[in-house]
Amino acid sequence: MAQERGASFRADAATLDAPTASSSSSTYASEAARRTLFTEDFVPELTVPVEAEVQGKVPSWLHGSFVRNGPGTFRGMKHLFDGYAMLAKFAFENGTVKVSHRYVQTEAYKAFRQTGQMQFPEFGTQVSPLKSLWLTFLGLTGIGLGSTDNSSVNVVPTPDGKQLVCMSEPVIAAYRMDMDLNTLGPLKYEDKVKGILTTAHPTLLPDGSMINLTSGIGSNYTVFRHDGSTNVREEIAQVPLCNPPTPSWIHDFPVTENYAVLPETPVFLNLKAAIFGGADYVIFDWKPELRTVLHLVNLKTGAVTQFDAPPYFTFHYINSFETADGSSLCFDFSNFETPDFINGLMLDNLRGNKLPVAASPLVRVTVPLDGSSTSATLQPLMKDDSYIFSELPRVNPHYKGKEYRYAYSVSAKLPASFSNALAKFDVKEGTAKQWHEAGCSPLEPIMVPRPGAKDEDDGVVLSVVAGADGKSFVLVLDAKSFEEVARARLPHGIPYGFHGSFVNAV
Ligand SMILES: [Fe+2]
Repeated sequence: MAQERGASFRADAATLDAPTASSSSSTYASEAARRTLFTEDFVPELTVPVEAEVQGKVPSWLHGSFVRNGPGTFRGMKHLFDGYAMLAKFAFENGTVKVSHRYVQTEAYKAFRQTGQMQFPEFGTQVSPLKSLWLTFLGLTGIGLGSTDNSSVNVVPTPDGKQLVCMSEPVIAAYRMDMDLNTLGPLKYEDKVKGILTTAHPTLLPDGSMINLTSGIGSNYTVFRHDGSTNVREEIAQVPLCNPPTPSWIHDFPVTENYAVLPETPVFLNLKAAIFGGADYVIFDWKPELRTVLHLVNLKTGAVTQFDAPPYFTFHYINSFETADGSSLCFDFSNFETPDFINGLMLDNLRGNKLPVAASPLVRVTVPLDGSSTSATLQPLMKDDSYIFSELPRVNPHYKGKEYRYAYSVSAKLPASFSNALAKFDVKEGTAKQWHEAGCSPLEPIMVPRPGAKDEDDGVVLSVVAGADGKSFVLVLDAKSFEEVARARLPHGIPYGFHGSFVNAV
């Protein structure tokens, strides 16, 4: 696999001047915004929706709920991925926006509230080794959960659009919620699919079913289809581990009409660190000498083919598609090259602006489908390096798994220590636009296409933004011009969040 252009640049640490709260010219998120995003307080539940103050004009066609998942508190925690799940809902109806938020009533969250202390280890915060081993024993004997069920990463609609499913990486962390954000209970599968870990990034198919995978300690990866109307997953293929007994950390993976790609990048779970801590990258080891193995899974036949790729690290795949002539499969992502970014997300770093934002230039991997090679190729997507940081990418949902042109993500106007901007990428032209407002920090942007739209970028982009004053607002950008059309101002702040969905129901 050839990397055709160097992507090894880094945000210059020398540019990381300490920001001052009074500096209106600073590009950093304000201290108040950072306190909102990475709070140690418990954000109170808002069970009765409150109407936000709308400035500008929300398009009249925008009807539905923008639901998001993420931590409601980081009390006593060390890493951005540790906080207890809180769903936030922004209901759009007749130009108005109403907000509500409620915690997901997981066992881990309830135990924390009852005792005032974490009873389960989270991603970057351990409990005592004795307690961890006891939890593992209870899980192995089927008496207890075995791991946290904190369901804080993503939320997707059920196929009928009437309920929500919250997800994280333990299989047991899937929870059903109603549209009023009441916790209905855990989603318990009744099938023979093995594996204790999954991804919170299932690919939703046009028929409402989803493709996802599981992994475990010493067992194969399993790619499966789940139609959502039952608790039974249908196995498509099993893929052996390249570095047994521990799986690679697959947070997200590309899926097209006919294929899934399991990208086994060389970042492997460290079992000892999961209990005692101490791995180079929180609970992961980095073994670049093993390179990356791309397992191409035929979704119709279950056949699996391996391709060689260089070592890289990423969280999310922007999009993937099969070329019109069927000769290759392409997938795009932000290339972090190493897992340093995982350590950069320690809360102490984020709260104190201690590290420059990690560089992550957009790249495209091309996998040959015509048998011409067993190696993939990698190319940069942008014409220049001006957009040095990109994460939490989204595309028009109608273009997921298909050839596409536009992507949206959080971004950075440098100097910055984490996202302080939004970006729109034109991956055909290799150009980008950016939205930035002093002191603010926007979260994952969601593209909502206008009903009946013909252009790929006809619609709006929604993002919950921590404002410079520490209060949040929902930003509505025109997806074509990438300019603001409205914002809905909340009377309080919403903590950091990971992923969300736009569903038609309110
Ligand atoms: Fe994610």
